[in-house]
Parts: sequence; C-alpha cells; structure tokens
Amino acid sequence: MNASPVAENSPRDPRDRYAVVGNPIAHSRSPFIHARFAEQTGEPIEYDRILAPVDSFVATVREFIDGGGRGLNVTVPFKIEAHRFATMLSPRASAAGAVNTLRFDADGIYGDNTDGVGLVRDIEKNLGVLLSGARILLLGAGGAARGVVLPMLERSPHTLTIVNRTSSKAEELVARFASAANEAQCQLMGGSARDIELQQYDVIVNATAGSLAGALPECDDRAFGSGSLAYDMMYSAQPTVFMRHAATLGARTADGLGMLVEQAAESFHVWRGVRPDTAPVLAELRPMLSAA
Ligand code: ATR
Repeated sequence: MNASPVAENSPRDPRDRYAVVGNPIAHSRSPFIHARFAEQTGEPIEYDRILAPVDSFVATVREFIDGGGRGLNVTVPFKIEAHRFATMLSPRASAAGAVNTLRFDADGIYGDNTDGVGLVRDIEKNLGVLLSGARILLLGAGGAARGVVLPMLERSPHTLTIVNRTSSKAEELVARFASAANEAQCQLMGGSARDIELQQYDVIVNATAGSLAGALPECDDRAFGSGSLAYDMMYSAQPTVFMRHAATLGARTADGLGMLVEQAAESFHVWRGVRPDTAPVLAELRPMLSAA
C-alpha cells in the first residue's frame, strides 16, 4: 500500500514553519540564508517565501498562523502593517515604527526589528569598524533610516548626523531620538545636505532609496576620505553608484549584503534562541549575486 502524502507540518513532520512575506518576493535570499542556518545549527525548521497581495497582508499572515506557522520575516511593503499587527513590540521595533520579524506563540504576536542590529553587526564585526566614538553620517530619513538610528545610538558614537533631501524629515528623526541620544552621550543633528558641518566622517551610511534608481543622494564630497567607511544599505552584483562615488573620493566601501545576513541571524535568534555563524553564509551568498 502506498503511504499517503504527509501534510505540511502534520504531526509526522517535526519541522517548525517559518517564511518571509512580501510583494514582490521571488528574489528574496532569505530562504537560502535560513536553510543554511538550520543546517548549521540542527534546528528543525522549514522556511518558505510567501507572496501576499498588497491589500491582504493580515489575511495572509492569519492563514499562515492557522496553518501552524511559528514566525515570519516581513519585507517591503509590509513592515509598517506588521508593526500595527503585532500585539507586543520590542523596544527597537517600537523605535523603528516598523517590524521585520514576527514570532507567534501562546502569549500573542511578538514584533521585532532586526535591521538596525544587522547593520551595526556588519559594520563592527564583519568590517571591523567600531561605532563607539565615531562620527557617523546617515543619509536618508525614511523607514530604512529610522530603523537603524536606535541601534547605532546604542553604540555611543561621538556624533550622528542625519541628512535628507527633505530636511524636515531629518529634523523629525532628530526630535524623535533626542532622549536616546542624550542617554548615549551622542550629539544628534540633522537637516539638509547644505546644513551639515563640513568634515570627514568615519562612517557614512546610505539609507536612501536612491540606489534602487541609480541616484546619488546629495552629500558634500568632503564628507568622504581615506579614513571613511561608505556603507550602502542596498546591495547588487555590481557596486552601487554611491559606492563608486565614495571610492573615487578614497573611501572604503561596503554594500548591504552583510546586513541582510546579520539581520537574518538575529531573527533566527529571536525565533530559536540560537545564534548561527554568519561568515560562511555570507561567503557563499556573495558569488551567487553575480551568478544570478
Ligand atoms: P525606505 O523604507 O526605503 O526608507 P521611504 O520611507 O520611502 O523608503 O524613504 C526613502 C528615503 O530615500 C527618503 O529619505 C527619501 O528622501 P525624501 O524624504 O526627501 O523623499 C530618500 N530618497 C529617495 N530617492 C532619493 C534620491 N533620488 N535622492 C536622495 N534621496 C532620495
């Protein structure tokens, strides 16, 4: 007699279900990354990708929970909806106003944001640049920028300057994080590119959506020098226009692939309580970008 097919997550499939939800989602690298983390740690999980219609995030997530799903990564364009959907928020998700990690358990729906810590770990651990005492310039004041401000402040930089095309949005972020900056003894400033102090920065992070369209955010060339790390939160097979520009000014450059792997590792930790080793996964992922 033929064995009947085992339904996903039936009592005979001991693996816990996770996924990344977004729109679009086909090119997400998260299933690859989490499959590697699962192999490496021996955690019994499966990890899929879910395309949610733009107007049906909550219905899609409810269906996943009803099917026994344990946690989700949330990507564009649903991070703000996920923040509203969560019944409990980590302080960093609350500060970011956005959620990229959901965990479903008996207590309810826990929302976290691992993007900022992913950026900080990539800069400090993988690239070897300490943020403590550093002069940081953050370009952009949208969702991506807001998500990384608190984790960067927690490293106690000397100064954090936020520059945005629409200066009022940079000023809003400065007001929002003023007390966290005070606590970290960091001078937090913001405005338009013309308002900022002309000096070389230790770390310049591009958190604008500019690289997607091949646009260079406005920023004085004197911000970059041989002692600067110019970090683009975007990644692609080729260096972004921001990275190429920074390199011509003598800066060291990095893209956001390491941040992607580090935020995934932190999500894995939120779900499983285990911290995977990111280095081999990042090393394997890099050549896959140019092969794609
Ligand atoms: P995300 O979630 O990716 O941050 P967002 O919240 O829409 O998306 O924010 C996009 C950010 O990129 C903003 O800081 C935006 O500047 P404005 O606030 O002035 O719109 C910035 N941005 C987008 N395209 C840009 C460009 N061509 N040059 C400079 N900044 C740009």
